[in-house]
Amino acid sequence: MEMSGFSAIIPLAYLASAVLFILGIKRLSHPDTAAGGNRLAAIGMLLAVIATLLESGLEYTWIIAGVAIGGLIGGIMARTVKMTAMPEMVAVFNGFGGAASGLVAVGEYLRVGGSETLAIDSGVSIMAGTLIGAVTFSGSMIAFGKLQGFVTGNAISNPLVKFSAGLLLGFAVVLAVYLVGFESNLVFYWCLIAAALILGVLFVIPIGGADMPVVVALLNSYSGLAAASAGFVLENNALIISGALVGASGLILTGIMCRAMNRSLANVLFSAFGTGAATAGRAADGDRVATPIEAEDSAMVLGYASQVIFVPGYGLAVAQAQHRVRELADLLTERGVSVRYCVHPVAGRMPGHMNVLLAEANVPYEQLCEPEDVNPDMENIDVAVVVGANDVVNPLARDDPQSPIGGMPIIETDRAKTCIVIKRSLSVGYAGIDNPLFYLRNNRMFFGDASDALARITEEVKQL
Ligand code: TAP
Repeated sequence: MEMSGFSAIIPLAYLASAVLFILGIKRLSHPDTAAGGNRLAAIGMLLAVIATLLESGLEYTWIIAGVAIGGLIGGIMARTVKMTAMPEMVAVFNGFGGAASGLVAVGEYLRVGGSETLAIDSGVSIMAGTLIGAVTFSGSMIAFGKLQGFVTGNAISNPLVKFSAGLLLGFAVVLAVYLVGFESNLVFYWCLIAAALILGVLFVIPIGGADMPVVVALLNSYSGLAAASAGFVLENNALIISGALVGASGLILTGIMCRAMNRSLANVLFSAFGTGAATAGRAADGDRVATPIEAEDSAMVLGYASQVIFVPGYGLAVAQAQHRVRELADLLTERGVSVRYCVHPVAGRMPGHMNVLLAEANVPYEQLCEPEDVNPDMENIDVAVVVGANDVVNPLARDDPQSPIGGMPIIETDRAKTCIVIKRSLSVGYAGIDNPLFYLRNNRMFFGDASDALARITEEVKQL
């Protein structure tokens, strides 16, 4: 791309923005520094955008229109999205990111490819950008549809789907090699795009709804790779570096989520977990009795305890009970009770879901802890209060290797002196399996919406 009088500054600005991205991501790894890290990365992005706008030969009318419309839509979505709908929004954003990068590749192909044979380096970048961008777009749209309920959440998995996906991938790669290595051909190029779009659909439909957040993280990684490819196409270093960072961090996040669920990525992608036979669970067992507890007794147990842990789960997000749990925890702390919040890495429906909610309620970071911090000492915990969590405290994960969640690390609240589970019924969590914790002698069920339940317990603690 031709450069203006700013040509010497632009690469330096890109370098500075890349450094800011890296420092920003580094700071995201701790709650204390995360907000500052986000700001650093945002400044880096602003710098990169300004540097890009300084390139000469740009058509500003289109850019301003795009920024205004996109900014407005993005701003409204970010302000109005419900916390529980975050995975859907991330899925849409990944899809659009993939589409944007793919369109850059398409634009470049139409600019150079129609008339001449592609140079090997730009040709490979264009084909990679097209392929990955299209797969990311259609895959993300299916992920969005599944999360939103437009597309069945059931895993549509049969050998024909896998065979067709393999065939299409082979077909797309052959077309890409032909277009770069032999001759440019517009019809073949459109076929490549069509194959990649169908491939994205076939990639996501065999995956059950429960695993969709993992797939969204993986698609996020793909959107980064698509952006990096677009960076090669445009010879834009900032885009290459930021795309590579998104690609790598999405992959690391996918790995963390798989480990926290004790599943391999292959198992997530191909085992059709989360629906159908694999999850045919029972809500309750007629022979077993779950003992209910009311607010007054809960308050007694909690108010006179010395160590309490709160275990938040998806139900906390549904009930938006983060402020209520903080209120109760503060009250207990004032009474001299030692209170901690134990957060499981896959509690809720997206990475960091519980941390975000608890941070919103200004829960002190020093009260947050992880399963490995509390599990060894669980026998000394007087009360574990499970707020809308289910799978992440299910002892079957530890005791039954055959269970669909067998081997998943859990927060072992069943080993606490007393466990109180706050949820509306005995019904199952996302994995769809019964939870023996509910029927244990040291467990009490507080049936109700998490927010109401916590408010009622708080009122009773105030009366003690
Ligand atoms: P779940 O096992 O999904 O259980 C949530 C429970 O919340 C439900 O059993 C539900 O029971 C209860 N609930 C719903 N609304 C409520 C309300 N208003 N008040 C009180 N309770 C309410 O949640 P979890 O323990 O957080 O586990 C997360 C699951 O999602 C795991 O299986 C995990 O593998 C999966 N997953 C998570 C992620 C990430 S990254 N977080 C990614 C992929 C998969 P009632 O209907 O009886 O109230």
